[in-house]
Amino acid sequence: MSLIDSLNWRYATTKFDSSKSISERDLEKLKDIVKLSPSSWGFQFYKIFVITDPKLKERLLPAAYNQNQIIDCSHLFVFCSYRSVFEEDIDQMIAEFHKLRANDDNYNKESTDNYGAGAKKSILNMEPNRQAEWLKKQCYIALGQLMVGCADMHIDSCPMEGFKSDEVDEILELQSQNLTSVVLLPMGYRSSDDKYQHKTKVRKPNNLLFEDK
Ligand SMILES: Cc1cc2nc3c(=O)[nH]c(=O)nc-3n(C[C@H](O)[C@H](O)[C@H](O)COP(=O)(O)O)c2cc1C
Repeated sequence: MSLIDSLNWRYATTKFDSSKSISERDLEKLKDIVKLSPSSWGFQFYKIFVITDPKLKERLLPAAYNQNQIIDCSHLFVFCSYRSVFEEDIDQMIAEFHKLRANDDNYNKESTDNYGAGAKKSILNMEPNRQAEWLKKQCYIALGQLMVGCADMHIDSCPMEGFKSDEVDEILELQSQNLTSVVLLPMGYRSSDDKYQHKTKVRKPNNLLFEDK
């Protein structure tokens, strides 16, 4: 199937077949897909909780306004952004650059250190609300990439903002980890009686969506 066919095949799944699970092999591939997401400065200041524990899913259900995808899915990805960025977070990623690029041709350690210094100047001086917004946006880039990856693998998913972030944060004890929940992605396999799979896609017509200049 072409990518366009897969994107037409996907839909925001409202009912998963809870008897079907994503295989370990596919799960590793999904993790690779999300791991390869681009992010601002390449820092990936987020963490993704992968939830399969039925008891934990049950506890999260009311926080997600009882949307059943939370419990019927095979795997629930909870995208969490850092609450704020500290100097050590940037140092940690710069250390990864050094480690992973050490053997690249003409690797220049000093220019990477300068990159880190520039990042600190920009990110650590952001006004806190702006920084929080910026951090959340990074999660959506990863979410989008993972949803396309799911479609390509014919794995169903449902992006979800309909949940109480403060409650999810409490259940997953996120605040003490400098994290906050941003968006959810339950994944798995559609139930044959999810009526939404038969609905025609509604999208803006091209003349409203695009403008040639
Ligand atoms: C960021 C985001 C948040 C969403 N939140 C929910 C949600 O909480 N519950 C839900 O059932 N669908 C949710 N949706 C699904 C959208 O309603 C759906 O993607 C849209 O109607 C387009 O339909 P399609 O994805 O089936 O093509 C969300 C979608 C996005 C992108």
